[in-house]
Parts: sequence; C-alpha cells; structure tokens
Amino acid sequence: MKIKGNNYRSVWMEHNSIKIIDQTKLPEKFEILELNNLTEVCEAILSMKVRGAPAIGAAAAFGIAQAAFTSAESEFYTNLKKAKTALLNTRPTAFDLFYTVNKVYNAIIKTDNIKNARICGLKEAQKFADENVEACIKIGEYGEKLIKNNFRILTHCNAGALATVDFGTALAPIRIAHQNGKNIFVFVDETRPRLQGAKLTAFELAEENIPHSIIADNAAGYFMQNGEIDMVITGADRIAANGDAANKIGTYEKAVLAKENNIPFYIAAPLSTIDFTCNSGEDIPIEFRDEDEILAFNEIRIAPAKSPAKNPAFDITPAKYITGIITEKGIFKPDEIINLKEKK
Ligand code: MRU
Repeated sequence: MKIKGNNYRSVWMEHNSIKIIDQTKLPEKFEILELNNLTEVCEAILSMKVRGAPAIGAAAAFGIAQAAFTSAESEFYTNLKKAKTALLNTRPTAFDLFYTVNKVYNAIIKTDNIKNARICGLKEAQKFADENVEACIKIGEYGEKLIKNNFRILTHCNAGALATVDFGTALAPIRIAHQNGKNIFVFVDETRPRLQGAKLTAFELAEENIPHSIIADNAAGYFMQNGEIDMVITGADRIAANGDAANKIGTYEKAVLAKENNIPFYIAAPLSTIDFTCNSGEDIPIEFRDEDEILAFNEIRIAPAKSPAKNPAFDITPAKYITGIITEKGIFKPDEIINLKEKK
C-alpha cells in the first residue's frame, strides 16, 4: 500500500526481525514496529497491533520462522512446539493463523536437518505472504467486474491492505474499480468497538482519494432503505465448508438488512480463510474480547462504574444471506465453496 508516497506491506521480515505497521496508532501516527521474539509477536497479535485474518496469518508464519532461526540447536524442536502453541492461542477466530502456523511448522519438522529447516521455515512463511498479495489482486480483478459505474458500496470493518499482507480483500475490488476510472462511493461502517472502519478503512481510502463517508454502525439500514447502497462487500475471518462466514461483529445484521432491501451482499476472502474442517458456522469459535473495549472510549470510561459489558468480536453470517464469495479462483455461490477443497 502507498503511504505518504512509499510502498509498504502490513507485515514483512528483515533478517531475524518481523516488521509490522502498528495498526493501533493509525490514523494519527504511522509507526513501524520491530518484533524480535515470540513474546513480542504474540503480544502484537493479541493487542491487535497487527490484525485482519491474512495479516495475522503472515505475522504468525514469520513468528514460527523466527523461532526456528533464533533457537539453539539443543532446544530447536522444543522451542518450535512452544512457538506453535503460543501463536495458536493468541486469537481463535481468524483461520489464516491456524493455516499458516501449521503449514510452516509442518514444513520445518519434515526437513532433515536444522540448518535446512530454518531456511525452509522462512521460505514457507514468505511464500504465504507473497501468495496472499497475489490472491488479493486476483480477488480485486474478479470483484471489480461486479461494481458498476456510480455504485455506492457499503463495507464493514477493515478488509484492506492493512488487514492482509497488501491490497486487501473487500477493498481490492473497490481499489481496482477506482483505478479503472469508475465513479464509486464507499460507505464505511465505523465498526465499534475498535473502530477499524473509521480509523483504518477510512485511512486507506483517504490515502488513495477514493470517495467515502464514515457512518455510524447503526446507520446502514437507513441508507439501504433510502436506496443509497448498491452492494455490500466485507471480508471474512473464517469461512465454513457450507459457505457460512465469520466476520467482524455487526456483519450478520448488515447481511440480513441487505437481503431485506434486495441489495447484493458479497464476502471477499482468499482460500487460506476457508476452513473445510468446519461444516457450518456453528463450528467456528468466536472470540470474546475485554469488556473495556465497550465500556471505555479512547480509554475514558463512558459507562456507569457498576455496568459490565459483553464483547463478542465476530458473528456468523449464514450462507443464505451471502450472494457470492469472491476468491482468487473466481466468484462462487456459498454452496459451491466446497468444490475449492482440492485447490487449496
Ligand atoms: O478483529 P479484527 O480487526 O482482526 O477483525 C478483522 C475482520 O473482521 C476483517 O474483516 C477480516 O479479518 C477480513 S480481513 C481481510
């Protein structure tokens, strides 16, 4: 992504150090963080300095590779296992994390000697990062064809370059439509409680001069009812084999509202986000986060001292509300997703 004229990925590796754009500082500050050990990588994922399913997947993949590079030979396999367990326990919903950690770990332990294993781990992590960028561009190319001139598109959370390694999933078709000269307008759900829409999606759109407005999460129905939204595109954190999709809390209600108002609702995600071991959305674990994310705003408490909060970070949109799933292999109806199993 271009930030102040320079090209960045959201996460990358330089020597033994993992670099990320600190997403908790945007849009006020653009800061690059260096993660030098497993504790720092896990903390960055937990605190959402790096967030979004593929970006978490890439950070974790580099995390395993880093553990392999920094472990002494005598502790190599013990440390690797420790790294795998710690990374898998950071955030439970986004599937890319599980996909990449297992992929890199398995590649390392299958390699015959430690020197080669280290190289192989890094190669595997880098491959995921590069393939994610290619997948996002393909998603953009397929998805762009759905966007007509003068379309007004609603998106929820941030499924942009920051949430992936680069380019984005839901924002990829929007980027390409804008680059192709289509006149488009993006409605950006603010996305309480962490405000990924207001802070991150708006930041990415503003950097590229893509026309947009931030709306309160509960305003989408108003704009749909008044005929001001032509389509919805969101990302996903995990897609089950039957096409049910987990995404940021609030996605489900947008999908129901879209159906009620005859507006097409699309999910954009790479194959790495599809979990064929989950038969339906009921099998997808939902992360609950700290209640302070709800009770405070900019770290100032806004709720009565005695009031608790409940804070699910994701919800499940049943396949029946999804018009299509935009992947790097094309656009599919939710019940066709199962056919992609061999392509993964
Ligand atoms: O809690 P977050 O910010 O990690 O949640 C992110 C989302 O819900 C995104 O929409 C999803 O990961 C798709 S990102 C390409």
